[in-house]
Amino acid sequence: MMDWTDRHCRYFHRLLTRHALLYTEMVTTGALVHGDVPRHLRFNAEEHPVALQLGGSEPADLAHCAQLGKQWGYDEINLNCGCPSERVQRGAFGACLMAEPLLVADCVKAMVDVVDVPVTVKHRIGIDKSESYEFVRDFVGTVSEAGCQTFIVHARNAWLQGLSPKQNREVPPLRHALVHRLKHDFPALRFSINGGIHNSAEVHTQLRLLDGVMIGREAYHNPWWLADWDAEFFGEVARGFDGELTREDVERRMCDYMVREAAAHGTPWSNIARHMLGLRNGLPGARHWRQVWSDHKLKGTAPHEVMALAHSQADADARSTAVAKPVVAAALDSSAARSAPAPTTQVLVGLPS
Ligand SMILES: Cc1cc2nc3c(=O)[nH]c(=O)nc-3n(C[C@H](O)[C@H](O)[C@H](O)COP(=O)(O)O)c2cc1C
Repeated sequence: MMDWTDRHCRYFHRLLTRHALLYTEMVTTGALVHGDVPRHLRFNAEEHPVALQLGGSEPADLAHCAQLGKQWGYDEINLNCGCPSERVQRGAFGACLMAEPLLVADCVKAMVDVVDVPVTVKHRIGIDKSESYEFVRDFVGTVSEAGCQTFIVHARNAWLQGLSPKQNREVPPLRHALVHRLKHDFPALRFSINGGIHNSAEVHTQLRLLDGVMIGREAYHNPWWLADWDAEFFGEVARGFDGELTREDVERRMCDYMVREAAAHGTPWSNIARHMLGLRNGLPGARHWRQVWSDHKLKGTAPHEVMALAHSQADADARSTAVAKPVVAAALDSSAARSAPAPTTQVLVGLPS
């Protein structure tokens, strides 16, 4: 995900799950052909297995970039046929490529011919308001003949006019059943479903019908969920660094990583810490913990010290909330006794703590 799943984010996610396949942000062929290749392709050895997602529509450029990806050690090359942004449309790639399955097939073939890692395609179920199943079925049929065996399907249309990229992840309706139908019609191909999947029960439901599930926003916002994945989906007993994995282990390892990154590349720790702000979601004091890790005034402070500060603030916050709670409850109770009680108000007031 652009601006989100950079190599720092992927390093963090890899501490939480050893087996899930991680994807880069989309890297355009233009950025690799004309730009700073190491900046775009460098990644940490710990990130494996990791797929490079490319954006482009020129077969020769894509072949060149796929080769670069292979040389840099990526485990899969993925072509983006799902991004609806105007900038990407001006470049004639992303979701608008779904209207040109023969061109996508040429792109896939050009890449398959030069790399020995899997070449996969991520796409939508349609473009604009067309609800035709045949459209996506024919797209998959044509592209698979060029050598793509795995499709990651974001199960909503991309509306190419009038919606921002964010709205295009929310407004067009999700139609998971179409992905199931693709699997039924192409049983020899592998399909991973994407879009609106938020918990392990939903993942298990999809895995009964399909080959994989891609999680986007929920993984970023609620990263501790990833700590369940190896045991839930990959049949492994989850192990920590010294026994049980804890959030603090992960945070400490991230501090170590921040120190190494600063020494090797001058990376400020804030560039890394921003990806882990959801780590303590749901725990007492999470908001104060996040505030410390987001505080740019601390940019000169060493990461392990920031961690200590974040925990002392979170603990103080948790203690004060614990003390304050009965007072709030008492206040509510006494006001409830004086006037007609409003139980829903009590619930709402109670929630933020
Ligand atoms: C900030 C952001 C950036 C994204 N960038 C990409 C991208 O570079 N390539 C891509 O294939 N999808 C991208 N996506 C879309 C997600 O991969 C995913 O398809 C979409 O969010 C739906 O899945 P979800 O409901 O699990 O989040 C992005 C999503 C977000 C929120």
